[in-house]
Amino acid sequence: MSQQPQAAVGAPLSRVDGRLKVTGQAKYAADHDIDGVVHAVILNSTIARGRITGIDTRAAEAERGVLKVITHRNAPKLAYRDNPVTFPFPGRRLRAFQDDAVQFFGQPVAVVVATTLEAAQHAADLVDVSYDAEEPATDLTRSPAEDGPAPFAQPYSRGDAQEALGSADVRMEMAFRLSRNHHNPMETHATIARWDGDKLTLWDKTQWVIGAQNEAAAAFGIPPANVRVLSPFVGGAFGNALRTWPHVVIAALAAREVGRPVKLALTRRQMYFTVGYRPAYEYKLRLASTRRGRLTAMTHEMKYETSRYEKFWEANQALGQMLYAVPNVSQNVQIVPLDVSTPMWMRGPGYGSAAFVIETAMDELAYRLGIDPIELRLRNEPGEDPSTQQPFSTRRLRECFRVGAREFGWHRRNPKPRSTREGDWLIGTGVATGCYDVFLGGANAHARLDADGTVVVQSATHDVGTGTYTSMTQIAADALGLPVRNVEFRLGDSTMPPAPPQGASQTTASVGSAVQDTCDKLRQQAITLAVEDERSPLHGVDADDVVVRGGRLHVKGNAARGETYRQLLARNNRTHLEARGSYTPEENNRFSMYGYAAMFAEVAVDARLGLVRMRRMLGVYDAGRIISPKLAESQAIGGMVGGMGAALLEHTVTDHRDGRIVNANLADYLVPVHADIPDVKAVYLDGEDYRADPIGVKSLGELVQIGVAPAIANAVFHATGRRVRDLPITAVALL
Ligand code: MOS
Repeated sequence: MSQQPQAAVGAPLSRVDGRLKVTGQAKYAADHDIDGVVHAVILNSTIARGRITGIDTRAAEAERGVLKVITHRNAPKLAYRDNPVTFPFPGRRLRAFQDDAVQFFGQPVAVVVATTLEAAQHAADLVDVSYDAEEPATDLTRSPAEDGPAPFAQPYSRGDAQEALGSADVRMEMAFRLSRNHHNPMETHATIARWDGDKLTLWDKTQWVIGAQNEAAAAFGIPPANVRVLSPFVGGAFGNALRTWPHVVIAALAAREVGRPVKLALTRRQMYFTVGYRPAYEYKLRLASTRRGRLTAMTHEMKYETSRYEKFWEANQALGQMLYAVPNVSQNVQIVPLDVSTPMWMRGPGYGSAAFVIETAMDELAYRLGIDPIELRLRNEPGEDPSTQQPFSTRRLRECFRVGAREFGWHRRNPKPRSTREGDWLIGTGVATGCYDVFLGGANAHARLDADGTVVVQSATHDVGTGTYTSMTQIAADALGLPVRNVEFRLGDSTMPPAPPQGASQTTASVGSAVQDTCDKLRQQAITLAVEDERSPLHGVDADDVVVRGGRLHVKGNAARGETYRQLLARNNRTHLEARGSYTPEENNRFSMYGYAAMFAEVAVDARLGLVRMRRMLGVYDAGRIISPKLAESQAIGGMVGGMGAALLEHTVTDHRDGRIVNANLADYLVPVHADIPDVKAVYLDGEDYRADPIGVKSLGELVQIGVAPAIANAVFHATGRRVRDLPITAVALL
């Protein structure tokens, strides 16, 4: 097959859907105009543990416009089949209105359906619920861990960490606490559900249309083929739309009960109750090293919160095993079941939390030994993956640090803590490593090239702000030799060729490889048609010698000999050509595949008030081939902003007396705003990784947030001499 010229890939294209978004034409879940739609409002429990003893719905039902109030007393029993397609959090998922048990504060206890949103909201206020409340346990630090390892966690060890710690020159022991964070995407969760007979259509905010399809089918006990999920635009999610939560089932249940399409949008407050969060952690790290900074041992003891009904898990072990060349490692991961809702993966899940701990500890070690923090990391660079003995597909962390140190001016710093002052402000710089898995999933696509020379490519993937519309357009444009404006990429419909969830940074690599395969096949079809067509100027040419550029097929190196797709299809009386393609990850890939980052931060800390202000941030990334530089930069900026939030601001506060989340709103749950964001810069190393996948990309969506928080914490230490091992870093900790 001939190699296509690269024109669109790598070009700094703006979002192809940008105009739709900024002109309000992009339809998010709640924006769809569905004939006859009525509105549902969920009522949430005001206790965290206990039973519902009474629900008086009479006043609500008497309100004008109210169609129905559904509670566990009148809700039909749903099938809630096992769902083999979606994630296995061991346990039993929350079943809406199936019994009187309350398992966390904010659990849905009723839904009111009315002809207007206002009527539904008002009536929901009139529902009177009484409870038999028990004292809840919601504090990770005061509750026992479950015996045995967390689900899917292997008590891991290599070498003999205890022995190595005992005989080490340098030994350190550190305890970290990470607070709970909520995803807080701009768009709140929303679903519109419509039944047509026994067929269900959901317009849903989701990172996984096929996951939502299967979950709805399982809940109602209907075939997945009877459920269609549409999600063309998603206003951010960060992981909380990877799972189909109870409100989706509630919307569909309500629609079935009232015989009308139902729209259900969570309020911002409700976004803190049932759509997951990054769990709080307690994490003890011990390390041992030689005086020259060669790590000899690390032990990791982690505890994190989960609900009592499901055992959440996330990838919090990988970094401790593969990031540095440590001969002796042990890990123990435990869950602490509480009277809370189930967590959900949040940007850089597991990795981000572990990176904060490991990368803060590396900085502490560097100071203890008097070695530059970058140099310390370079001394512990492994030649191969120390957990699997596999070669790295690519690992350019050294280069990330080299480029970053130069760009950031790292070596201009005075390494002594609290040595740089500007008036009342203490200035500090810090560095940390970021690293995230190259996760790959099977994906499919379809492409149809029409006689007018335009193509529509589709796959049941997603664009949660990540830029999938744009990057897939770029890949398709180059594979077909078409200008970008002739390519339309469609996504977000479960009837399209299946694709994985948009999570774990797998979309560009996986769906991109499927789009590449699909469009390669389509191009080859056109080329075959031409070279076999006696009337074509390309007749008789070896197909391998034909390339397509600007919608025109021609002999490689002889642009004069050729014709356009339009000419070819018209002459052959073809309305269109079409192809299906796919990508399947290699089963026994013999490489260890990760993306890497060097993160640099500069902060100013008010010496009197303990306030931390970001001054500069730089990320240098080894993420393989960059399809869409402008969107990759945008991702990196978002990742750094998210990391600043985790480092300095974000903290879900629970009142442990009743399990209530105190700051369930965006005024009290702090996220960075524009005024908090300094000069932020992202640099992607040039390069490809064709060992990882056919299009040479690694992962970047999660990577860009991992290592941000420890870089900031390390900068705070450099500025103040104060080591903070808790997230977020607050003024109180620095006074
Ligand atoms: Mo990401 S937490 O897998 O959306």
